[in-house]
Formats: sequence, structure tokens, C-alpha cells
Amino acid sequence: MKSDMILILDFGGQYSHLIKRRIREENVYAEMVQPGIDPSKIMAPGQEYFVKGIVLSGGPSSIYEKGAPKCGRKILELGVPVLGICYGHQLIAHYAGGKVKRAKKMEYGITEVKIDKRVGILKGHGKTEKVWTSHGDTVLDLPDDFEVLAHSRNCPISAFRHKREPVYGVQWHPEVAHTPNGQRLLKNFIFEICGCKATWTPENFVEKSIREIRKEVGGARCMIALSGGVDSSTATVLAAKAIGKKLTAVFVDHGFMRKGEPEAIKRTFSKFNLNLICLDERRRFIDKLMGVADPELKRKIIGEEFIRAFERTAAKVKTDYLIQGTIYPDRIESGIRKHSEKIKTHHNVGGLPSRIKFKRIVEPLKDLYKDEVRRVARALGIPREIVDRPPFPGPGLAIRIVGEVTGEKLEVLRNVDEIVRKEIEKEGLEKQLWQYFAVLLDTKSTGVKGDSRAYGYTAVIRAVESTDGMTANYAKLPHELTEKISTRITNEIPEVNRVVYDVTHKPPATIEWE
Ligand code: XMP
Repeated sequence: MKSDMILILDFGGQYSHLIKRRIREENVYAEMVQPGIDPSKIMAPGQEYFVKGIVLSGGPSSIYEKGAPKCGRKILELGVPVLGICYGHQLIAHYAGGKVKRAKKMEYGITEVKIDKRVGILKGHGKTEKVWTSHGDTVLDLPDDFEVLAHSRNCPISAFRHKREPVYGVQWHPEVAHTPNGQRLLKNFIFEICGCKATWTPENFVEKSIREIRKEVGGARCMIALSGGVDSSTATVLAAKAIGKKLTAVFVDHGFMRKGEPEAIKRTFSKFNLNLICLDERRRFIDKLMGVADPELKRKIIGEEFIRAFERTAAKVKTDYLIQGTIYPDRIESGIRKHSEKIKTHHNVGGLPSRIKFKRIVEPLKDLYKDEVRRVARALGIPREIVDRPPFPGPGLAIRIVGEVTGEKLEVLRNVDEIVRKEIEKEGLEKQLWQYFAVLLDTKSTGVKGDSRAYGYTAVIRAVESTDGMTANYAKLPHELTEKISTRITNEIPEVNRVVYDVTHKPPATIEWE
């Protein structure tokens, strides 16, 4: 069954992505496109979705500026409901023959609007509403075909609608959390005005993806690199449901996973219908890292070795098709990667296609955000440990051991890390934290254990709060908890005699130590 869809024409506003997210939260698919899209293509038959409504987003330009992005007035004549937000609101007014001018006073931040008519998109609103605004231009006048639905002290037309057509404009930003009734406005538009059905559920996504993967690969054998993270795990299970044994998933055990992780990955994925290859590359990776203390060199060696292992398997499996768990934020290169790549070389499987020639790359999650991937993962029956797993770097524990990596240090860190994670989880704090883990330093220090001098490793507890990994605050864990963790580590792990707590935000520090 085809899903309904809302098409967002992106005029470059900083909140455009939020419009998409808010609509999808209502289980209605939304996609963002450039405003220059050919209007005749929007409604052309044979599309994957039914376009039931169009949103014109906000944007930084002024509509009279030279080169300001435009979509053409034809968009308003497709017979599909249209909602203009901020710049989109002004653009509709402009196309309709209204007057848009630079306002005497810019509206910015939380503003009170008077709702003149609680109809259409403003159903269920109060007589006044607090809304989030950010605009310099204002719609001052509209032709008689339109009616004003709301105004504010500095803005005579904060919301309008066409008297006969389903065309609406709103000067404020309903997609921003600072507009308390914003979601209501969007719901009014997508359900009442556009008549969308809330069918874009994880279950429907799974069904549709299975059909699409089958169509795209057309019976060919495919490969996927499975890391155990939520994205590659979800892509693996989706692909396994679509093509079964034609899929080979390769899990490279580089020896830098956390305690019990490789076993858990093997156990979980051997339950699904696919060929699972688990490569035990532990010896090879650690040998290559012998004597290497430089973090960047470590990352490079691990990245290279990973690609080698994958190449070897690709040659054996003889396939031209690669399936990848790329998600939407990876594609727009926002967030984590774009920022961090300047600081350190991230290793993940994203570098594969450029190194190994595949005829085709299939990315079933390419339009999803992380939380949407998690919903799909749950619908697929992927276990909670994977669905809720905090980010874990590709090079694993190797970049949480400062200095040279040795078998002994790996063993020590694995045990320390398990204590840190288990104790934080016992307190139920994991939901508030972006990441929580241990680091092992190359600094040894003196201590006393029993009656004798001990000279042992220093372990670091690192726990951070963050929303995207680009910036982070160190978490203020309760002292009793850090004390308990420290006592357990020094009691249970003889090689460690000092535990420190990392109280540095990002920036200036990064989340990982290397
Ligand atoms: P930093 O240490 O740069 O980390 O503040 C930001 C986020 O990225 C994760 N990270 C990685 N993820 N491959 C990955 O897939 C990597 O090489 C890598 N290095 C860091 C880190 O755990 C944090 O969530």
C-alpha cells in the first residue's frame, strides 16, 4: 500500500529539518526537496507516495532579494493543500498579489499572537498563543480572496488562509518546541486539511523496505558489514528478511569489543535467516598495533585492516552488491562526523565503497533519523541491548587505551569497563547519558594494597550527556556512585590502583580520549 506523504520545499531555514521530523512523528511520511522542483513531477503517476500536502519552509532570504529561492506559483495551483511557514508564508502572499515589506520591528523569539479565527490549521488554539518567531519581513496586505486568521502587535497578518482553496500561511514556527501548540497546528494541516492517514509506521516501513530491497537487488547475492551497532544491525535484519541466505553479513572481531559483545552479536544474528561470517581477526589486529602509541596511526591501521578483512571476504563471497546501514544524518554529514573528522579520523564502515568496487550500494535506512531506526529495529525484534546501545567507536577499546595496546591492557580495560557500565545501569542513569565507559591510561602510579606497595594502572571513568555527540557535558554522577565504582575496580582488578573521574566538557576535550 502506498503511504501518504507531505512534501517540504526547503528554502534553507534552520528549522526545515524539524518540520520533517514533526510530521513523521505523526506517522506520516515527509520528505524535503529543493524548491526548484518541477511542479508537474510532484503529482506525476508512478510515484512511491501520494503527495497529500506541500509545506513551504522558512528561509533566511527576503523574497525581494536578488536570487532569493522561489518555487513558482504553480505549486499553489496543483490542487494540493499548501502551508507556508515564515518565508513560505510571505512567498504565498507575494504570489497571491499581497504586500510583503520589511517590518519596522523585527519579531524574534517568543511572541504572543492573537488568534482571530480558530479554524483550519488553528483549530484547538486559544484566543492568544505563545509562538516562536524569527522574521524581518512581514505580510501587510492580502487580496480579498484571503482571510486573516491571526495577528500580533508587530505583525498584522501572522496567519492567513485562502477563502476557498486549502492554502494557509503562518508567520511563526510551529515546528519549534517553543511553540506549545505547534504540533497541533501541524496535525491540523496534515490530517484535517490534507486528509493524510497515519500509515507510515515502523511495520509499514519494514514491509516497504523489504519490497524495495528485493526489487533493487533482483536476486543477486549481497554483502553487509555488521558492526553490532543499531544501524548496521537494522539494515542486516531488514536485508535478511528481504533476501534471506542471499545475504552474507560479515562481522569482523578485531578484538577491541567490550566484554561479551562478539558472542552476543553472533548469538543474536545467527537466529535470523542469513549467512553470517564471523571473522576472528584478533591476532592480526593486535599484531599490527604492536609498538604503536600514536592515536591517529592506531586508527589508520585499524581502518586499513578492517577493509582488508572485508576485501578478503568479498572476494570469497563474489558479490557486486553492498548493503549499508547509512542513515540520513550520515548523508547530510551533519553532526558527529563532519565536526569530528577534522579532529580525528573516524573509522567506520562508511569508507568501504570507495575502496572496494561494488556495482551497487543499497541503503535501506538512508531516509531515517536515529530514533526512527530504533523504532524500526524494535519492530524487527532486534534485542534491546542493540536497539538502545550507546554509540561505540569503530576502533573500539583500542582508542580507549592510551598508548600502546597490549593483550593485558585490553583484558584489564574490558573488566574495568564492565564495572563502570553495570554500576551506572544499576542506578538507572543510562537513559540520561550519551555515553559512559572506562579508559585505561599509560600512566602508572604508586599505591598500597594490603600492606605492600602497589604500582599499577590508572583507570578513568568517562560519562557524558549530549544530544548529538558534537558537544557534550561531563555528567555529574553522584559521589556515592563514583565511590562504589572506584572501590569495586580497585578491589576486583589487581592491576589497577587508581581511579579518576573525567570532569571535562567537549569542547575543549573530545568524548573519547584518542
Ligand atoms: P569524539 O571523541 O570525537 O567523539 O568527541 C564523538 C562521537 O563519535 C564517536 N566516535 C566514533 N564513532 N568511529 C565511529 O563510528 C570512530 O572512529 C569514532 N571515534 C569517535 C564517539 O564515541 C562519540 O560518540
